Amino acid sequence: MSLESRKTAPVGVFDSGVGGLTVAREISRQLPLENIVYFGDTARVPYGSKSQNTIIRFSEQIIRFLKTKGVKAIVIACNTASALALDAVKDEFDIPVMGVVIPGARAAVEATKKRKVGVVGTDATVQSGMYTKIIHGMAPDIEVIEKACPLFVPLVEEGFKEHHVTQEVIEFYLESMRSTGIDAMILGCTHYPLLRSRIRDYMGKDIQIVNPAYETAMDLKALLREQNMENDGTTAQHSRYEFYVSDMAEKFRKFANTVMPFDVPTTNVVNIEEY
Ligand code: DGL
Repeated sequence: MSLESRKTAPVGVFDSGVGGLTVAREISRQLPLENIVYFGDTARVPYGSKSQNTIIRFSEQIIRFLKTKGVKAIVIACNTASALALDAVKDEFDIPVMGVVIPGARAAVEATKKRKVGVVGTDATVQSGMYTKIIHGMAPDIEVIEKACPLFVPLVEEGFKEHHVTQEVIEFYLESMRSTGIDAMILGCTHYPLLRSRIRDYMGKDIQIVNPAYETAMDLKALLREQNMENDGTTAQHSRYEFYVSDMAEKFRKFANTVMPFDVPTTNVVNIEEY
């Protein structure tokens, strides 16, 4: 690839479904000149209740598919896949692969004054203990309290953001977290930022809610700059986005239109098992 085509090549972003759109949205805000190819594994969501081997195999297939689209870098916009598959896949491919856990952990380390951080995520992410490991690698004195909140994902998928059931589920999961004395809490699942204001209201103003999407987009920017791959806009006039899923394209497209700050006109279905 020439230097110019490397710069204008898209960034591949993937998730188990719609959650990674919160990361794509943040990338579009911070890196408006970058093109994105997004893949949502809607046929095989949720990843949060699957084994590590399965999540690694799914991630490899998706990266192979995204590479056929000529992507210059991959963002694993899924906490579960970042926690369980990033280490296995990052050296397997000839393009940079980054996840959301390290950026999210770093933001929490910077945010906590009381040295006590909460993490909410899927069962698989919490069982992996990856957030605790990464935070302790950065600051061993910080106490980390992790809590799985598996029902948040289907509530978001069902569009139940404002529903009273969501409030009850938030209280059910987070009541114990609220009294632990944490002053920062990582939304360690890409669906959870879609419930952010409800979670923030419940946790109270003394607990800073950390959305790893923001830091991930910043890290992507730094990575592209470092590797001289940043799209400087000299050849691409408008950022161009493509959306692919493994099933339920129309449902995904409608959801994407509620998250992305621009119109998502089409979503294409891919047989991901072929990759
Ligand atoms: N996207 C996943 C994550 O961030 C949540 C949904 C799932 O379980 O697949 O952990």
